[in-house]
Formats: sequence, structure tokens, C-alpha cells
Amino acid sequence: MGNVIGKVMPNTRIGEFQTGLDERVPVGLGDIVITGTGDTAIFARVIEVQGDTKSQRTAVCRPLKLERLPAVPEDAVRLASDEEVQRALHHGDGSKDGHDAPLTIGTLLSGTATPIGLDPLEAVSKHVAILAMTGAGKTFACSILLQRLMERGYPVIAFDLHGDYVNADVGITYDGNKKYKMKVLKGRPNLSKLSAKEFTILSTILSEEDVTPTQQKAYKEVHEKHPKEDSLEFIEEAVGHVDQRSAGPIDRQAEKIAEEWEDVAGLPSWEVSDLLKSLKRGQGIVFDLQALSLPWTQFLVYLVTARAFKQRKKGDIPPLFLLIEEAHNFIPAPGPASLTSSGEKPWLYEIRRIAREGRKFGLGLGLVSQRPSQIDPTVLSQCNTQIILRITNPTDQAQIKRMAEQLDDDLGAKLSLLQTGQAIVCGSAVKSACIVNIDKHRGFPEGRAQTNFFQDLKDNW
Ligand SMILES: Nc1ncnc2c1ncn2[C@@H]1O[C@H](COP(=O)(O)OP(=O)(O)OP(=O)(O)O)[C@@H](O)[C@H]1O
Ligand SMILES: [Mg+2]
Repeated sequence: MGNVIGKVMPNTRIGEFQTGLDERVPVGLGDIVITGTGDTAIFARVIEVQGDTKSQRTAVCRPLKLERLPAVPEDAVRLASDEEVQRALHHGDGSKDGHDAPLTIGTLLSGTATPIGLDPLEAVSKHVAILAMTGAGKTFACSILLQRLMERGYPVIAFDLHGDYVNADVGITYDGNKKYKMKVLKGRPNLSKLSAKEFTILSTILSEEDVTPTQQKAYKEVHEKHPKEDSLEFIEEAVGHVDQRSAGPIDRQAEKIAEEWEDVAGLPSWEVSDLLKSLKRGQGIVFDLQALSLPWTQFLVYLVTARAFKQRKKGDIPPLFLLIEEAHNFIPAPGPASLTSSGEKPWLYEIRRIAREGRKFGLGLGLVSQRPSQIDPTVLSQCNTQIILRITNPTDQAQIKRMAEQLDDDLGAKLSLLQTGQAIVCGSAVKSACIVNIDKHRGFPEGRAQTNFFQDLKDNW
């Protein structure tokens, strides 16, 4: 049994009660407390501690679920024990073990520091959004989530735009003796096995302009002539081809494609379907995208999500969790950034499809962003679990409050006050929203501290 912290004060009502605080017991924001016993016990979260001197302090407590009756004045209020906290926050009776046990990502903010985790099946089948302003701890939180998934045998793929995971040593030992680390892949997809549709999409993405159906047809024809080449050098042919038929901005397009190709031609290349097929239980891949331009990155995200969906549907590859950092680059809110002349951007279409249908196949999404208000709200709302770290921008806060049903006004008001590494975890993978100190991944290098460019100038230039 946990420690008694005080007694229910007379001003109790359904939905809220206060307790005076015994000065010996440290109580803080986010603690889980209990009053009453047996069937009438009320589990509540401390949402505020009031008063400045210890002897005058009171805690404002909000029941975790809608109760029929208010807490009884003068009844003792005590801190929940580890086991009770877990029963209140985790699905089931808290005694799950094996692959159903929660994926522990941190500890309850204060008091008991009880380990808190996500329901694994909810996390991998109904998607997770990891949202916060820059530097608040998103990538650290993701690394621990990926680690836990791999420990459970779930294969993972991370799209890493800034090289955060490259030296991270996210990896595991499972079954006692097999050790896997996420495999870091630099480079680009090999073009020799692209379908005509994929080749046309690539050409269209790289040209970064609206491409007419005639131009698309020309790209397709070029592919048919050179179906097995790992190159875009012959794209000029398409240009000549189209130029004869219709004058247009195609010269500029060809130039742009040629430039984009030149930038990556010498990089190592790999075949995406082979990579997906090589993923075994407990393994992971990091696509290190630092050397790729945004169009190439968008193409890679398209290719991997499209092929993963297809191959998973056919049962060619195992269940898989796909983590997309900087998700606002790939799933922008509806508007010019989300459309091409012929419809939705192809990578957006694929991500949307996994968000909608992935759960049928065990294809999970983790979407990471510091600008939730710039992400397509329908995709974001299909992420049934949210890990939200500090966020101060009011537009982003408003978007988060709209999408996260469990995030009540009390917790919403704390978003800008969270410290680095503290998160509000809510949604379908927990029974009730809670504030969590996210564990630091032991493999992550300490602090990707801001480079001091003045020092850099002094030392190196
Ligand atoms: N759970 C944590 N425990 C301890 N330190 C942390 C934790 N999370 C983050 N930090 C510290 O904060 C720094 C920034 O964290 P992180 O890189 O995860 O932020 P981010 O939200 O991904 O930022 P960005 O938007 O720039 O990608 C880390 O380098 C680390 O020093
Ligand atoms: Mg990050």
C-alpha cells in the first residue's frame, strides 16, 4: 500500500477533489493517488500542487475516469503503489508478461517513478505520433521506442534525415545470444528494378515542377527503352521526345533531373525490396538520408512505404514499424504542398494508406514532427497513441488538443512547462494519459549539443 498523503477536503465534487498534504510525503504533478477502498476506490491524478510552505500545501486531484460519486470528505488519500499505478495506466490487469507486456519507455514523472509503457499491439497496429518543439526529446523518445520494439522482435525502419540514429547503437540482445543493431544504410535506391510507374514518379519528383501527362508518358517510354539501367542519364531522350510534340518547360525539368542525378550517382545503392525481404525478427534499418536532397528523400519514403505495403500484404515480409522523422516534409496539411497536377503526392498517398489500413497487416507508423499544425490532420488523427513532449507554439498546441482525445485541459495546460525528456503519453496504448520521464537510451551519445560556430571558426578556418 502506498503512503497516506492527506485527507479529502470538504470542497469535494464529482470530477475533482483536493487533499491537504502531509509534509513528509513528496507529491507532485502527475502522481497517481487513491481514495476510498474496494469497488468505490477512486484513482486520480495530481494536476496541481498549491501553496508555498510545506505545511499549507494542497494537491488538486482529478479522477482518471468519470466517477458516479465524489470522493468522501475526510477519507484518506494515499499515493498509489507501483503495482496500482500500472494497473491504472496499463491495459489489462497490469500483470501481462511476454510479448504482451507494455513497452517500457520511461517512468511516471514524480513520486514512485513507476515504469510506464505502451501496449505493444496498440502501438504497432494503430500508429504513434511523437510531437514536440525542437530539442525537447523526440528523437530520444523514438530511440527508446525502437529499442523496445526490437527487443520484442518487431522489425523497424527509421528514416533519419539528420543522422541522429547513425551512431546511436540502437540494438538488442534477444533469445539470450542473438544481438542485432539497426543497420545504417547510406546511399540511394538502385534504379534498375524500378517499375515504369516508380520511374515516372521519380522523374516527376526530381523535376520539382508540374509535369503534364504528355511528359509523364515520355518518362514512361524512356523507362521502357532502358528498363534495367541504374541511371537517369538518358532522361534527355524524354526531353527530345516531348519537345518535338509540345514545347514547354521540359528543358528546365531535364536539367533539374540531371543535376539531381549527378548529386547521387556515385553513392552506394541498394534494392528496396531485397532489403525489406532481408529483415528478420528483431532487426532494423536506418536510412541515413543526410546526403540526399528532399526530393530524393521523398522518393525513398514513397518507394519504401509503397513496397512495404505491397510486400506485407502478400506476406513476403514480416510485420514492420516505420518511423518517419520530420514528418511534416512528407504529410503536409492539405494545400499546394500536398498536391501534384495529377493528384495527391505519391508518398502522401502511401503514408495515408498505411495510416488507414496498416493495422490489418501489422504495418505500424511512427510520425515525428516539431510542427504538428503543418501535418495533414487526418493522418495525424489516425495515430491513436501520442507521445507529446514540450511544445509552446499555440497553433501546434491547438492541433494537438484537437487530435488527442485523452489530453484534457489540465494536461494540455502543461505542454509548455514540460522539461526536456518529459512527455505526456496518451491515446489507445495507455489506459489513461500520464506524464512520463522518458528513459535515456544508453546507446545514444550524450547531447547533440548545438555547435558553437564561433569556436568552429577559431579552430578550423
Ligand atoms: N529522455 C531524455 N533524457 C535525458 N536527456 C534527454 C532526453 N531527451 C532529450 N534529452 C536531451 O535533449 C537533447 C535533444 O533531444 P532530441 O535530439 O531527442 O530532441 P528532438 O526533439 O529530437 O530535437 P530536434 O527537433 O532538433 O530533432 C538530447 O541531445 C539530450 O541531451
Ligand atoms: Mg530529433
